[in-house]
Amino acid sequence: MSAPSPILEVSGLHVAYGAIKALRGVSFAVQPGETVAVVGANGAGKTTLMKALSGVLPIASGRVSFAGLDLGAGGTSHGLARAGMLHVPEGRGTLRYMTVEENLMLAWEIRPSGIPFPEAVRTVFARFPRLEERRTQFAGNLSGGEQQMLALARAVINRPKLLLVDEPSLGLSPILTKEVFQVLREFRDAGVTILIVEQNVRSALALSNRAYVLSQGVFTAEGSAAELANDPAIVAGYLGHGTHTRSAS
Ligand SMILES: Nc1ncnc2c1ncn2[C@@H]1O[C@H](COP(=O)(O)OP(=O)(O)OP(=O)(O)O)[C@@H](O)[C@H]1O
Ligand SMILES: [Mg+2]
Repeated sequence: MSAPSPILEVSGLHVAYGAIKALRGVSFAVQPGETVAVVGANGAGKTTLMKALSGVLPIASGRVSFAGLDLGAGGTSHGLARAGMLHVPEGRGTLRYMTVEENLMLAWEIRPSGIPFPEAVRTVFARFPRLEERRTQFAGNLSGGEQQMLALARAVINRPKLLLVDEPSLGLSPILTKEVFQVLREFRDAGVTILIVEQNVRSALALSNRAYVLSQGVFTAEGSAAELANDPAIVAGYLGHGTHTRSAS
């Protein structure tokens, strides 16, 4: 029996901002249906990785292949999005001067499903009733938690095959963080492949099958999420009290 082919394959990925080498040879693969976490300190290159995978940042060298599309060799960020890659960026990525409903419509339009928008949006509003109450408001006027829910609702209506989520609980209260992870579990349990970067490492590992540790632009450890959650070096570095907090800047 042949091994299943990965939905995402990355080899020798290098990304630089001028002289700053943010990624220095990252290689990995994600199988369809897996949930994979990338853990690392501030500045390790996590956001750079997500942006490079979705084609937002140019690749200096290496290969990124998603669902058979090669980034760089004709694969554009728009092409990847149409093929089912959805990037929920750090800072949520909703369009501030568009209404909740317009934000959802743009996400729906990327991957037309045959389900008319009014019907698709009704399903989404049934899951996120707070967004229905705010459907005509500008996304920029929502609270941080509501904006994150809108970012996830955009993903629901888009029906991605691969969800890239960067710090979805950043700045949220513990209750909202729980809600965010509940939505991510729903994606996972529906069979959506997920790659997640998250400061709340314990929750990210609890969600995931596998994880990689990114340090200064290279992977320094990998394993099953359960293994890493019990690894003394990971516990000391990322799971202790207040060891991986972010400055309030
Ligand atoms: N636009 C940019 N211009 C120059 N350097 C950048 C830029 N964005 C990121 N960097 C640098 O690249 C490296 C990786 O940054 P990145 O944002 O990917 O880290 P991160 O792991 O997401 O960190 P955080 O946990 O703080 O979100 C850092 O050294 C950062 O200073
Ligand atoms: Mg980041």
